[in-house]
Amino acid sequence: MSTAGPDFSALLARRTQRMQRSAIREILKVTEDPEIISFAGGLPNPRTFPVADVAEAAAKVLREAGTSALQYATTEGYRPLREFIARRYWEKQQLRIDPDEILITNGSQQGLDLLGKVLLDAGDPVLLERPAYLGAIQAFSSYEPKFSAVTLEDDGPNLAELEAALDRQRPKLFYTVPNFQNPSGLSYSAAKREVVGRLCGQRPVVLVQDDPYGELRFRGEPLPSLKHHCPSCVLLGSFSKVVAPGLRLGWICAPRQLMDLMVTAKQGVDLHSNYFSQRVVHQHLLDHDLDTHIAMVRALYGRQCDAMVAAIKKHFPADVKSSEPDGGMFLWVRLPEGVSVMELFKVAIARKVAFVPGSAFFIDADDRHLRLNFSNSDEARIDEGMRRLGEAIRQVRVG
Ligand SMILES: Cc1ncc(COP(=O)(O)O)c(C=O)c1O
Repeated sequence: MSTAGPDFSALLARRTQRMQRSAIREILKVTEDPEIISFAGGLPNPRTFPVADVAEAAAKVLREAGTSALQYATTEGYRPLREFIARRYWEKQQLRIDPDEILITNGSQQGLDLLGKVLLDAGDPVLLERPAYLGAIQAFSSYEPKFSAVTLEDDGPNLAELEAALDRQRPKLFYTVPNFQNPSGLSYSAAKREVVGRLCGQRPVVLVQDDPYGELRFRGEPLPSLKHHCPSCVLLGSFSKVVAPGLRLGWICAPRQLMDLMVTAKQGVDLHSNYFSQRVVHQHLLDHDLDTHIAMVRALYGRQCDAMVAAIKKHFPADVKSSEPDGGMFLWVRLPEGVSVMELFKVAIARKVAFVPGSAFFIDADDRHLRLNFSNSDEARIDEGMRRLGEAIRQVRVG
């Protein structure tokens, strides 16, 4: 009997032709070999997960709320958790957000899918950063849009390209990650935030600020949200990087009309996000100071980032360029002319070190960049991994 199973090809929806498995998940399979030092995943450091506190919060919720914590609940999400998020927007970013404009989602990833569902028909133009978060490309791709992208410079998008793209392509949405972007680690300057917000605010486009890393700043002062400059801006947030990703809790904050449509769309997908998980996270946030926890995460990631930057300077050829982020979890490396990143990937795996080739984050071609994750490796592994990678770069260049 064939192990492949029945063939449904003739029955599949057309959109499945546009669906691609995440290149990163495929790469992570290669890196399951325990001898490989992997900087490929985008994993938060498990040392930061508040295991005992979550256990305590879970027990308390079950003890105090009993069966109601295990019942079906509203699609919008647990109201006190939405109020907590709204309060934090005010305290940290001076943004006045109505809790009714916050929808709790299964990670911010689901927010991306819901946005696609309510905004995109096949062929609709969508503007991305170049490079862009792979998960957003994946989420929007299901709705068969026409992507274009604006170059991300060290201080944010190229503004001439942005203005031209907004006017020529007339995108329905512009998807941005202005703080410590995945994959590049780059952030928008204060000046570019203002212009991006203004340009989008003057046009019929949904500006989206996805911000899972904004609180993971280990140097410098926070910069204003795009929403300060474009009040209709949609915000995506997540507990994945500041509490733990396995809880699968994030949120989307959008003006009422979009919010109502996304609530209806979410009802068709999963009725509501895991209610018990929402109650546990809320209890945890009541009982433990999130800022104290985040300060610990920032200090750890800051040390790991510094270790990676220093190891790159020590082990890589001088003409390999690397970003030096002030926060987040990633560092972006640009190879010199003539060194192919796909070739480097093969050599690196043979030398037992892994990264994500940058091409995964481009809607067109790229063979010069690689993404390195620093949050999930200690300083000794970072140094050894960069040593191996430096040797691999030299080998590819000579070969
Ligand atoms: C820019 C960006 N957006 C969204 C996500 C999805 O995060 P989650 O669904 O865990 O909130 C990630 C995860 O790595 C990300 O890097």
